[in-house]
Amino acid sequence: MEPTVNADYGYLRQVVFGVSQNVLDASRDYLFDTRLAKLLRNQGMARLDELVRKLRIEKNPALEREVAEAMTINETSFFRDLRPFELLRQELLPRLIAARRARRTLRLWSAACATGQEAYSLAMMLLENFPSLAGWNLVIEGTDICREVVQRAQTGRYHRIEINRGLPARYVVRYFDRQGEDWIVRPELRRLCHFRQANLCGPVLPFNRSTDAFDVIFLRNVMLYFDLPTRRALMAGIHRLLAPDSILFLGSSEQPVDMAPWTPVLAGGTCHYRPRQAG
Ligand SMILES: C[S@@+](CC[C@H](N)C(=O)[O-])C[C@H]1O[C@@H](n2cnc3c(N)ncnc32)[C@H](O)[C@@H]1O
Repeated sequence: MEPTVNADYGYLRQVVFGVSQNVLDASRDYLFDTRLAKLLRNQGMARLDELVRKLRIEKNPALEREVAEAMTINETSFFRDLRPFELLRQELLPRLIAARRARRTLRLWSAACATGQEAYSLAMMLLENFPSLAGWNLVIEGTDICREVVQRAQTGRYHRIEINRGLPARYVVRYFDRQGEDWIVRPELRRLCHFRQANLCGPVLPFNRSTDAFDVIFLRNVMLYFDLPTRRALMAGIHRLLAPDSILFLGSSEQPVDMAPWTPVLAGGTCHYRPRQAG
C-alpha cells in the first residue's frame, strides 16, 4: 500500500475523535494502514486516500463510525488485574449484599466491556462465592462503542487462548462448554450479562439515574484514550449513576480528573472510589 500523506492521517484522526472522542497520537498513524485494511477491502478500495476522499465528500456517519470502531483497542482478559475482583469478593460485596438485603437487587456495569470477559468475570465471581444471592435480581450490564466486540460478548464464545489468559481451570469446567477450540459460556452465566453498543462520550450516558443506578461500576482502561474535558464529563456522568454507598473501579493507571466528588479508598493492593454526596 502506498503511504498516505500526513493530511489524510490528520483527517482520519479527526474522524475518530468526532465519533468516539479517542485521541490518537500522530506517532501511531501507521496503525490506520493495518486497522483499516478490512474496511478498505469491504469498500472495494486499494488505498487509504480513497477512503479519506470518500469520508471528506460524503460525511457519512455510518462510515465514520466504522472507521472509529476499527481504531478501538479492545485488549481485555478474564479477571484482568485480579485485585479489584478479590477485594470485591472478600470485603466490598459482603457489605453491599448486607446493605441491599431488603431490595434483593445488585446492578453492576462493565463500561467499555470490549469482548465481555470483564462482565463474565464479575458474573462468575458472584455465582461462585455468593450462593445467598440465589433469587436476587442480579444484573451485569456490558457496553462498548465497538459493535463487533459487543457482538462477540453477546455470543459468549472464546478461543482456547483467550480462556487460558486469567481464567482458573475450575471456572472453565463449571461455566463453559467446549466446542472444538472454543469455549462457550453456559446459560446460567449468560443470563446475568446484558451487552449492548453504547458511546460513553455521547450527549447522554446509556443509563438513567432514576431507574438504572449502579452498585458497582468497572470503568477500566478506557479513560486513557480520552482528553481531559471528555474524562471530566464522563466522570460527572458516572458519579450521577452511582448509588451513595456504591463502588467505582478505574484502570490501575487511571484517576478521576477532579478528585473533589470522590473518596479514594486504598485497600487490597488497589484503589477504588466512592462518590461523595454534594453539599
Ligand atoms: C482496552 S479495552 C478495555 C476493556 C476492559 N474494560 C478491560 O479493562 O479489560 C477499551 C475499550 O474501550 C472501548 N471504547 C473506546 N472508546 C469508547 C467510547 N467512547 N465509548 C465506549 N467504549 C469505548 C473500546 O472499544 C475498547 O473495547
